[in-house]
Amino acid sequence: MLILGIETSCDDSAAGIFCDGEVLSSVVCTQEVHRKWGGVIPELASREHARSIIPVVEEALERAGVGLDDLDGIAACAGPGLLGSLLVGLCVGKAMARVLDIPLAGVHHLEGHFFAAISTTDAEPPLLAIIVSGGHSHIYFVPEFGRYELLGRTRDDAAGEAFDKGAKAIGLPYPGGPSIEKAAVGGDPAAFHFPRAMRKSGELDMSFSGLKTSLLNKLDEFSQDEIDNNIADIAASYQEAIVDALVWKIREAGKGRDFGGRIVAVGGVAANLRFREKLKILCEEMGWKLYIPPTEFCTDNGAMIAAAGAFRIGRDCIAPWDITAVSRWSLEEL
Ligand code: KG4
Ligand code: ZN
Repeated sequence: MLILGIETSCDDSAAGIFCDGEVLSSVVCTQEVHRKWGGVIPELASREHARSIIPVVEEALERAGVGLDDLDGIAACAGPGLLGSLLVGLCVGKAMARVLDIPLAGVHHLEGHFFAAISTTDAEPPLLAIIVSGGHSHIYFVPEFGRYELLGRTRDDAAGEAFDKGAKAIGLPYPGGPSIEKAAVGGDPAAFHFPRAMRKSGELDMSFSGLKTSLLNKLDEFSQDEIDNNIADIAASYQEAIVDALVWKIREAGKGRDFGGRIVAVGGVAANLRFREKLKILCEEMGWKLYIPPTEFCTDNGAMIAAAGAFRIGRDCIAPWDITAVSRWSLEEL
């Protein structure tokens, strides 16, 4: 089954082709327009999607070496995300499916992230999945394909948001995750102390907003020169606090739970090398097996939407023609 996936939930216009367990192409056009604002401006995002999604889809088809008539189905992300942005990709997907007379799947963005791991590794349920992105920090128990039991989630900012807000405070460019990761190279992760919140045993919810406040307080103590001279240590210590908090929660989530010893980590923050390294150490220590997609499939992409769409279409979960985008949608409702 040859599926085209379309992703426009935030600031990446992306398309990918997935066929029988294999990613044939993935094209991502990241919107540069938000950089100068230090965060995503929803109105600008939808306009950019409208400009770029068709060429992105065309390139995904070309790179996969397939034509429109070869497609067996279309998958478009239907939520959660920015409503105006989602609508662009969903309308394109809907129009294509209608004209080509093939099924359409309205894919949940987080199920898409989950399928990034399923399609690029040999992970299979039962497993624990941590989805860490700009909008989500959620830990799920996945007993079987298509069933997601929420174990813990952030009560305020997502881990990616903590990276983005932290970078903005330090004066590093958006998106903050890659900026902080780059700035942290050679820095001492123990140079400064930042809080690791909600450390009660068995507590699986997370909180990252106090961390950002603590960074702002620390920066207030320094002159700009001192910040510039200590940037690697500040970035490394801040990154370490986010990574520690996440890894600690995964350790807690696995305790006494029958999940087959399989851990899946996906979402933009799973591209972070320090996170990958510390998660690997945890899994070695616990005797668990770790599945993380290659970095390009951690951040938003169309191939993950195509893979999740193939799963949904294969289960006859076909979207009605009047499907619309939703900004809020929990994965457990699927
Ligand atoms: O999954 P994603 O591309 O989009 C959402 O669904 O939100 O994740 C984007 C988030 C941003 O907050 C970005 O700063 C973060 O993932 N991110 C990273 C890295 N690459 C992206 N965070 C830490 N380290 C990275 N290398
Ligand atoms: Zn995402």
